[in-house]
Amino acid sequence: MTITYKDEQGIAGMRVAGKLASEVLDYLTPFVKPGVTTNALDKLAHDYITQVQGGIPAPLNYTGGGDIPYPKSICTSVNHQVCHGIPNDKPLKKGDTMNIDVTVIKDGWHGDTSRMFGVGELSIAAKRLSALTYDAMWIGIAQVKPGAHLGDIGAAIQKFSENNGFSVVREFCGHGIGRIFHEEPQVLHYGKPGTLEELKVGMTFTIEPMINLGKKEIKDGPEKDGWTIVTKDHSLSAQWEHTILVTPTGYEVLTLSAGSPPPPAFITS
Ligand code: MF3
Ligand code: CO
Ligand code: CO
Repeated sequence: MTITYKDEQGIAGMRVAGKLASEVLDYLTPFVKPGVTTNALDKLAHDYITQVQGGIPAPLNYTGGGDIPYPKSICTSVNHQVCHGIPNDKPLKKGDTMNIDVTVIKDGWHGDTSRMFGVGELSIAAKRLSALTYDAMWIGIAQVKPGAHLGDIGAAIQKFSENNGFSVVREFCGHGIGRIFHEEPQVLHYGKPGTLEELKVGMTFTIEPMINLGKKEIKDGPEKDGWTIVTKDHSLSAQWEHTILVTPTGYEVLTLSAGSPPPPAFITS
């Protein structure tokens, strides 16, 4: 498999899919409260994507090269769950943190985005981890322009995260995206400036750092469901994700909508 470069028609399709994915997160936001189950959020998302947006939830039955199809329409990773948490019937409780990851297919194109949510009031440590992981994602995004390298993105995210005392998960990364959910290249969230693939106009890929409050090591969750990943030391983990297009002048974030949090001040200024 090779990197695909999107033409104007592909970019138009990616813009639509990206906005829809982000709008699913907007739609879910008011429902994230103590007592709601992640299964209820999954059903809300599934029905919204299929019935309101006329789209397909990409995770449902996705195998990603493994042998266990993903059984739900969104990923909900709570507290020390790093990624790919499967929605279930356990009610969320005050103080939980949760990443909701949504991928919508529309007219064959994929949009992939995730945000952190707080259930009720969060601890200072949880707020800080979530906020700085958001900044880490944007610091990665800010590296994107033709002629830069994938290693610039990873290096910037790693440096910022480790300078704040956090660790970067190594085993999962961002990815090229288009007509295929996960395509080349891999977008590591650690590395060395100037290394790896050169960025070129028309590339579309995700940046989705998973940042741990404790150590970087991960393991399969106790659920043994073939998907859920947790931190080995049980520390909190956070993740944010956007789908990005490389443009002649830099980047365009494809997964924005009315409810997207604003970029950090260091981006807009
Ligand atoms: N959306 C995830 C990503 O950012 C992948 C989820 S695969 C699933 O790449 F099958 F778990 F949904
Ligand atoms: Co992704
Ligand atoms: Co995702």
